[in-house]
Amino acid sequence: MCVLIGTMGAGKTTVGRRVAAALGVGFADSDELVEEQAGKSVQDIFVEDGETAFRALEHATVARALGEHDGVLSLGGGAVLDPATRALLAPHPVVFLRVGLADAVKRVGLGTGRPLLLGNVRARVKQLLDERTPVYESLARITVETDGREPAAIAAEIVTALEGDRA
Ligand code: S3P
Repeated sequence: MCVLIGTMGAGKTTVGRRVAAALGVGFADSDELVEEQAGKSVQDIFVEDGETAFRALEHATVARALGEHDGVLSLGGGAVLDPATRALLAPHPVVFLRVGLADAVKRVGLGTGRPLLLGNVRARVKQLLDERTPVYESLARITVETDGREPAAIAAEIVTALEGDRA
């Protein structure tokens, strides 16, 4: 199991799918697993049940996926804020997709479907990057720069780095 972390707009889902395809393994995304489990969108969970409920569901979902799923798992940007989730990541190759403010804002667009970005998207993304980058860095075994790069190139770099990690 390899785990992709990084903020919204880092490209975790897009790149994760490509890495999984290149390795010939399955792909899972924690937001999609949470949505399946809850039977509603992440946005609706935030609005109807609140962020605390979302985080609890997210932790349970990630814990199950790490135990069951054998492939590539992309985590929602805030999943690593939970110390219990962080502890579960230790045995796995964790890949941090680094993105700067400008590219992150470009990729998330107007933030539709991302409840934490409501309001001033640029200011929110900056705040999240500032708060979370040290956490992502502390967990990463592999860090890949994504600014100005295509998903295919980023995925290829990750596959090579994972091969080196296993060697
Ligand atoms: C969040 C990121 C989102 C999703 C939720 C909260 C966050 O996932 O889990 O909206 O706290 O950064 P992506 O990083 O896949 O957009």
